[in-house]
Amino acid sequence: MKVILDCDPGHDDAIAIILAASSISPLEIIGITTVAGNVQVEKNTLNALKVCDIIGLDHVQVAQGATRPLVKEAEIAEEIHGETGLDGPLLPDEPSRQAIDQHAVDFIIEKLLDADEPITIVPTGPLTNIALALVKEPKIKQNIQEIVLMGGGTFGNWTPAAEFNIYVDAEAAKIVLESGIPVRMFGLDVTHQALATTETVDELRKMENPVSEFVSDLLTFFIQAYRDHFDFPGGPIHDACTIVHLIEPDIFNFEHVHVAIETKGEHTYGMTVVDHLGVTGKEPNTYLATGLDQVKFWSVFKKAIVSYGER
Ligand code: BDR
Ligand code: CA
Repeated sequence: MKVILDCDPGHDDAIAIILAASSISPLEIIGITTVAGNVQVEKNTLNALKVCDIIGLDHVQVAQGATRPLVKEAEIAEEIHGETGLDGPLLPDEPSRQAIDQHAVDFIIEKLLDADEPITIVPTGPLTNIALALVKEPKIKQNIQEIVLMGGGTFGNWTPAAEFNIYVDAEAAKIVLESGIPVRMFGLDVTHQALATTETVDELRKMENPVSEFVSDLLTFFIQAYRDHFDFPGGPIHDACTIVHLIEPDIFNFEHVHVAIETKGEHTYGMTVVDHLGVTGKEPNTYLATGLDQVKFWSVFKKAIVSYGER
């Protein structure tokens, strides 16, 4: 399956890239595009390139995208991901290569128009790039297999009602959800069940390969940030849920529902409004993840990380 990873790395975005590029993954990564989100887009791009260096993903192009949301000012999540967006592990000062000289939105459009088979788009940051691509070239819709995204939830982590990725660019999320393209959504209800703990870190340390060490360092910082900020017993590896699902599709349960994006509410801007009972009469537009098999989830996660020591 061909995928484009649109992201804002970000600890859990980095883990998503690592799982997607592992040798147990059936995914062919067509490109990695970055967007303003956890930190400024330039920092997210550097982080994506550095993650590629650490895992030897040197053949995949990285394209930098939107510097800010469509309508609002940017908001960043430094308190969760640190000043660099990827605080914790020791990272090289500079990546070994640069992003390509093409905007992420044009890269996404070009790859989709040229595709000989439909491509799955995996956004794990705000949806700005995807919305811009859809507005600039609506013909790309035909070549999108599905949009498998991390975002939303019945509660928020940025406001009481809204999850960070959707809140940062709710106007973009609205464009994507109303596009008619099949959407698969991993929101906080399910990603908070994918909780990495200090036991996860201990297991990773025992694997003793450079990538498991890197992920351990990422998680050590991330778990502490969630403890400090939310008083959580672990760090939810939100973005990794999208890739675990694409590697092994029988781990998550889904409900087929209509999801609307709130863009006006004083207290509810960025909320994902889920019509569980079909009261709006609107056709379902989203496969909403509702639960996961813990044993299978962590088995895929660990197999993917172990595989880096077997190369
Ligand atoms: C989402 O926000 C970001 O901080 C994470 O990388 C994830 O994509 C969780 O709300
Ligand atoms: Ca993210």
